[in-house]
Amino acid sequence: MSIAKKEFGTLKSGKAAYLYTIRNKNDAEISVTDFGASLVTAVFKDKAGKPVDVVLGYDSVGPYEINKYYFGQTIGRSANRIENGRFVIDGTEYQLPQNEKGNSLHSGPDGYGVRIWDSAEADESKNTVTFRLNSPDGDQGYPGNFNVAVSYTLTDDNEIIIRYEGLSDKKTIANMTNHSYFNLNGHGSGSVLNHKLQISASAFTPVKDSKAIPTGELLPVENTPMDFRTAKKIGQDIDAEYEQLKFGLGYDHNYALDNWNGKLQKIAESEGDITGIIMEVYTDLPGVQFYSGNFITNEEGKEGALYINRGGFCLETQFFPNSANEPAFASPVLNAGEKYQTTTIYKFK
Ligand code: GLA
Repeated sequence: MSIAKKEFGTLKSGKAAYLYTIRNKNDAEISVTDFGASLVTAVFKDKAGKPVDVVLGYDSVGPYEINKYYFGQTIGRSANRIENGRFVIDGTEYQLPQNEKGNSLHSGPDGYGVRIWDSAEADESKNTVTFRLNSPDGDQGYPGNFNVAVSYTLTDDNEIIIRYEGLSDKKTIANMTNHSYFNLNGHGSGSVLNHKLQISASAFTPVKDSKAIPTGELLPVENTPMDFRTAKKIGQDIDAEYEQLKFGLGYDHNYALDNWNGKLQKIAESEGDITGIIMEVYTDLPGVQFYSGNFITNEEGKEGALYINRGGFCLETQFFPNSANEPAFASPVLNAGEKYQTTTIYKFK
């Protein structure tokens, strides 16, 4: 077990960003940067013992300053969409930047994923790197000084454990996620359509239209192309004549996880058809956004790789999209002084 630190390039502001590489006893390694508290690489062995980097990303910090696809970012204060960028807490209305089709997406252009975090701490005894950020009252339009920490741990069981902890001095919204794109055949290996995927959700949150705000209903996945309760190829039904898939140009939907009780549980599993690498996902949150990379168009990534359309997929654990405005959904409101604490694990076999 070890953690190495090196420079990851210089930001436009002149500040240096750093990359921390955590290695475990199986010679698996992940690297994370203090820019956006982002996951940059995740290298695990395939069935032949060859190391494979399974996340999309860039070689240095420069492109992360733009990062229009949100590769690897920590998203906060609130993931996914908030309708009209507006919500009300105790009678006071708050307005966020409307950065996508009139709505707020991933908390606007100044998300936690496109800023340098205040500090980074490497704890070799725990194989953990922790990033801290102080998000001031009014930041992105949200109330409350929100002090947040995100830590990445690589265990000897090949788990990437992502822990989020935060505290606000005012009632606010807290709904953070990680926006990694996975390709279990290797980050530059083409599309993920032949990956198998299973998601433990009997229902999803259908959206109103291509602006992707949920209607508020839960729709059973049964007898629809949305059904991933039993593993199937991502590409099997992706182009079906089904309105919800047309809205997202493929899968871009929140799944309402079965048996949610706030405890960590396994919610999904995927397998790369070429490498045999299996990823399991665990979370204590009620939902997961399954996004099949429908908006990626030929993006140059790490080591000269070309990321094609549907060249990676995301499983973003979260409170449901627009839950700040939807009383039917579990609430992402965090009370003043209440501890925000949530964990997501990506485990590789
Ligand atoms: C999330 C959204 C998608 C898309 C990606 C980023 O997954 O649900 O619609 O915006 O982020 O490209």
